[in-house]
Amino acid sequence: MDPHPTPTPTHPATLPERLRLETRDLHAAAERSGVMGDLLHGRLRLDSYRAMLSNLHAIYDALEAALDARKADPQVAPLRMPGLYRAAALADDIDTLGGNEAVVEDAAAAYASRLAQIAQAGSPALVAHAYVRYLGDLHGGQALKRVVARTFGLGAEGTSFYEFGDDEEVRSHRTAFRAALAALPVSPADADLIVAEARWAFTQHQQLFEQLQARHPG
Ligand code: HEM
Repeated sequence: MDPHPTPTPTHPATLPERLRLETRDLHAAAERSGVMGDLLHGRLRLDSYRAMLSNLHAIYDALEAALDARKADPQVAPLRMPGLYRAAALADDIDTLGGNEAVVEDAAAAYASRLAQIAQAGSPALVAHAYVRYLGDLHGGQALKRVVARTFGLGAEGTSFYEFGDDEEVRSHRTAFRAALAALPVSPADADLIVAEARWAFTQHQQLFEQLQARHPG
């Protein structure tokens, strides 16, 4: 008899479990790619960082408009948490860092168009984007905050993008977001669609980070 039988799952994976497991490889790649890898290692220049924030602003602007447009949709409403919205915080940080003259890279423009398109189509895929951005901000974003503050000598002003309150508040946002994701009324086919969309979103971020690095080398 096999002394180490493979455990049989006693329940099908929930949506948050699937998202975490099925995007893990792409998260690891995005975390290291282009300007994001440079930022993490404290070697990004301020103008590149500002350009990154401007491109993220284009994405959040589209994401938050899409979530607002679908606020009556029961498959989107539970994940629409205006307390987590980041477009205004990004605009403040960009101002603090000297204003916005950055080019919107192809990857960010395509991302924003895709968000507008799936919002209009009424697709549940929209929640994948809330997952990729907000749960990311509530995890790795918290580590990045310290790196950004140290690299660019910033205090609260200039790092409001990463600000969600104290550790307790950050934890409770994460818990609430995961619980809403787990309780979302989705069919197995919707769940497949959402996971595929999250994978697309990670890949698109990776491309954006690489395009930004190519435009701001050195
Ligand atoms: C240098 C950059 C980054 C660092 C250091 C980082 C770090 C982390 C860490 C430590 C976690 C928690 C993992 C766990 O609990 O298993 C996490 C989760 C997450 N990160 Fe990142 N991350 C980075 C970049 C990103 C980016 C660019 C995105 C999205 C484009 C992202 C999206 C996410 C998401 C969605 C989660 C939640 C995973 C889950 O529990 O389902 N992260 N990150």
